[in-house]
Amino acid sequence: MLFQRVKSIEHILESAQKKGLKRQLGAFDLTMLGIGAIIGTGIFVLTSVAADKAGPGMMFSFVIAGFVCALAALVYSEIAAIVPVAGSAYTYSYAIFGELAAWMVGWALILEYAVAAAAVAVGWSGYINGFLHEIDFGLPLALTAGPADIIVLADGTISEGGFNLLAFLISLFVTFLLIIGTAKSARFTAVLVVVKIAALMAFIVLALPAVKAVNFEPMLPNGWGTPLSGVGILGAAASIFFAYIGFDAVSTAAEETKNPNRNVPIGLIGSLTICTVFYLIVAYAAVGAVGAQPGGELSLSKEPLAFVLREVGYPTVGNWVASAAIIALPSVVLMMIYGQTRVLFTMSRDGLMPAVFSHVHERFHTPHIVTMVTGVAVALFAAMFPVGMLADISNSGTLFAFFMVALGVMVLRRREPHLRRPFRTPMIWVVGPTAMAGCALLFISLGWGTIRLFLAWAVIGLIVYFTYARQRSLLGNLQEAN
Ligand code: ALA
Repeated sequence: MLFQRVKSIEHILESAQKKGLKRQLGAFDLTMLGIGAIIGTGIFVLTSVAADKAGPGMMFSFVIAGFVCALAALVYSEIAAIVPVAGSAYTYSYAIFGELAAWMVGWALILEYAVAAAAVAVGWSGYINGFLHEIDFGLPLALTAGPADIIVLADGTISEGGFNLLAFLISLFVTFLLIIGTAKSARFTAVLVVVKIAALMAFIVLALPAVKAVNFEPMLPNGWGTPLSGVGILGAAASIFFAYIGFDAVSTAAEETKNPNRNVPIGLIGSLTICTVFYLIVAYAAVGAVGAQPGGELSLSKEPLAFVLREVGYPTVGNWVASAAIIALPSVVLMMIYGQTRVLFTMSRDGLMPAVFSHVHERFHTPHIVTMVTGVAVALFAAMFPVGMLADISNSGTLFAFFMVALGVMVLRRREPHLRRPFRTPMIWVVGPTAMAGCALLFISLGWGTIRLFLAWAVIGLIVYFTYARQRSLLGNLQEAN
């Protein structure tokens, strides 16, 4: 009984076809969409967190995290082309594993999207606060970071945070934009992609010549890291994984894509490849230019890329790079909150979340209530917690979802071998298990503190399912009525 509530793929496809979105996106649009969602706080801010965990060896962490994401992107492409509908991993799981697993995946996606949005908002605040400070308009220190965060001043003094005001306000502002109906605009996304790429290129051009061999010594001050320790190369890989997430935005656009068989995989793999290349060069240049020892200046900076440029003698360009982050990161917050509201909206339509979550505003045609609830929660998280902690928590949810998707794609190959698959993951029996193993490895490398929070969240999820959602499930009630 517990595992009988499975939605049929035909049923999901039928409801998607009714929506009948126009197929107009090509490979280039999808690649831009992917880069727009991927480049954000990860590279602009978490570079310092990675340096703190791994030292110069964090360059390997970028490679490991990128590799796991590439495998996940391959399996995502297959399922996204079969079930090109909103709701992402939650919807896929409903069709493959049934309601309980779908619920748990949806519950984990709250970590992926909402907590990621908060992390990006905090990352953004690091840059805007640094910028305001540079032009002598800085806020009081207690308003620049949450109570669980510490601020290290240029003269080495340490101050405690109180309430991250600007991270709070940007989250509310983005929420307001989403409520009045600012959706993803392809042209706007493309402009921001250009801004971000230009900033990373400027960084590379100026920081690369400053690279010195001595800055790479010692290369692995914390070694490879042991499971649950949360440090070393693997610990940093588990954190920097955050820099790559967002590519699943491409898979959710499958329904609007011309020739998805060819274009979705190109968009997913293409955007990931471009970002990976940039990340590796940026990480190498940052490490080589100023050094990256744990506890060193880079590892303490809240705006590491601007910090590096100021250190190597380009303060003005440092401010430009900071401005690029300030302009572009809010759109990543927007995409993450948007993704969250659509998952909750879909769960609400299935009866698993309160019905008001699928109410649509008469004038704005947006799910305003769920957007408001999500936005306020994101804003509070952003005001209270440090970026590294939020990113790690978000990664735990994402890794769980990716693990389930990889498993699901393999289950579906066995269970429904004749299903029409516009895109087939190459060597699925190698790629699938390796993707799962990679996700599991990164998950246990997050550190025990984060894993404990994930487990607590999962237990709360199970309690909510059995005391609330299960009785209200539309599918469950339909099955009982028959
Ligand atoms: N990958 C996105 C970022 O780094 C979430 O901000």
